[in-house]
Amino acid sequence: MYPQQVLEEVRTQNDIVDVISEYLPLKQKGTSYFGLCPFHNEKTPSFSVSSERQFYYCFGCGAAGNVFTFIMQMENDTFPEAVKRLADRVHMTLPEPQYTAEAKAQQQQRQRLFAMHKEAGRFFYQKLHEPMGTQARAYLQKRQIKENIQKKFGIGYAPNDRQGLYHYLQQKGFSQEELQKSGLIVERKDGKDYFDRFRNRLMFPILDIQGRVIGFGGRILAQGEPKYLNSPETLLFNKSRNLYGLNFAKNTRKREMILVEGYMDMISVYQAGFRNVAASLGTAFNQEHAKVLKKYADSVILLYDSDDAGTMAAQRAITVLVQNGFQVKVLQVPDGKDPDEFIKQNGAQAFSQLLAKAVHYITFQIQCLKKKYDLNEMTQKVAFTTQAAEILAKLENDIEKAVYITEISRMTGIAQSAIESETTKIRQKEEKTFYENAQEKRQKEFARQKTAKIISSKGILQAQRDILFLCASNFQIYQKMKEVFFSKDFLEPVYQRAYEKIAFLYEKNGTVFPAELINYFQQPEEQRMITEIFAVVSKHATAKDMEKALNEEIRKVKKANLDRLAAEAKSVEQIQQLLMEKRKADSLYITITDG
Ligand code: UTP
Ligand code: MN
Repeated sequence: MYPQQVLEEVRTQNDIVDVISEYLPLKQKGTSYFGLCPFHNEKTPSFSVSSERQFYYCFGCGAAGNVFTFIMQMENDTFPEAVKRLADRVHMTLPEPQYTAEAKAQQQQRQRLFAMHKEAGRFFYQKLHEPMGTQARAYLQKRQIKENIQKKFGIGYAPNDRQGLYHYLQQKGFSQEELQKSGLIVERKDGKDYFDRFRNRLMFPILDIQGRVIGFGGRILAQGEPKYLNSPETLLFNKSRNLYGLNFAKNTRKREMILVEGYMDMISVYQAGFRNVAASLGTAFNQEHAKVLKKYADSVILLYDSDDAGTMAAQRAITVLVQNGFQVKVLQVPDGKDPDEFIKQNGAQAFSQLLAKAVHYITFQIQCLKKKYDLNEMTQKVAFTTQAAEILAKLENDIEKAVYITEISRMTGIAQSAIESETTKIRQKEEKTFYENAQEKRQKEFARQKTAKIISSKGILQAQRDILFLCASNFQIYQKMKEVFFSKDFLEPVYQRAYEKIAFLYEKNGTVFPAELINYFQQPEEQRMITEIFAVVSKHATAKDMEKALNEEIRKVKKANLDRLAAEAKSVEQIQQLLMEKRKADSLYITITDG
């Protein structure tokens, strides 16, 4: 999207230590800075930032990257958003982003689809208020949705007409191809005709965060299947990323969100005066939902249906929400009703009182667990308490934990001290594995750093390029070389492939054209590396000098490669083997000249 040069400019202008310091306190230790990792829970700092390498790395969870990836992770930004944020930070104006032709075409298609969905929304809204919408209006009245709310949510009616919308949109100038891409029109089975996807349904426009229509949900007016018909996945509509109503809810700036399951629940709760509400629309609440929601909320009240399906969905949502750092409370409407039915029956006041009864998710999990066991039975009591201890071990707050332990002790008659020591045991076990994992990661990282140092050292890179340059430009040299130097001796995978391609091109053409060699590499980065091979000018006065220099480089690269392998070696035997090869490499010499 932006040229490499601009990205480099933004990156170098934003010193990683300064940027990260704006998010968390860092302490200097030698050339690195340390702090508590923002990407996982920890009590002792294992998050390190290197000023020299402009890189961060967490020894605990393995999070790593540069200033762009840090912002992406921290702010839930896409790459271009992170670039923009960092450019703004240093008051840098970015050039107009450059899109590929393909991206441009897609962008245009999206604009057309937005326009079409807006028209479709208008069409449905009009139809609701025409005589044919009488039944639908009566239905809305029965469900007690006030007119201002109907209007706000753009609720409409899809007439019982095979091609009403189809013709309307054609008239508005949308092409057949565009219509099919929208999912609003479906192809007849024999492929010979098209008809409206939504017929005789109450229509709920689904809006994105910016309030643009991206799809629809249509509810059947009487009994029948499916109860709700939704737009399919399109260029605009992605079910697992959109939360219904979030475009309105975000305006409350409350940082607390009520999460419900359905269209009607969302609308009813909103109408009752609680505007911080959104719905996950029948799909399971997933990681993508959480990432989107995180921009607008830190805590969530889960208000799912109280049937088995709703309880299971809530359990899964809890896991996702907790993983993404939300405070989570859970509320279940009594008597198996959903929030919409509850409000209709009891009013907004009662709903407000109900909301206040939302419980910490741990309480909810323990309540769910309790339903599975008969606490009068000895063995079941033990099983229940053991599982409850597993849940409690996850609690950070000791006071909270104590409260729950007292409660479970009261429920089971098992001594508090026993439950407490069980949670401590579980906790210690988890910490031990966590520590061991971290230890292992640290060792790996140490080896990785050592390897990276060898690979990236200037001399080694240049030596590899010189070898390839000489091989590609002189067949005699290549023939001598291939006896002692193999593609696996190169440290860069790209150069390994280049060496193999040189062999191939000699076979094919008897000579190697640099431009042809480059054709075998398609990634810009690879192309750059191959081009660099040929950017050398011979700097040797005599052939003998050249021979000496080449031999030195061969030994240098071979030995560096063996060092790299040694850093990654898994056994002493392996290291001894590598040491032997290294000694052999020391006495390596090829003669190219006669004199
Ligand atoms: P519910 O069956 O709980 O419906 O589905 P509801 O929200 O209570 O609907 P009303 O009150 O009878 O009108 C919850 C959500 O699951 C999705 C819809 O998003 C719905 O709001 N769903 C349900 C579908 O997509 N298709 C269906 O056939 C049923
Ligand atoms: Mn309902």
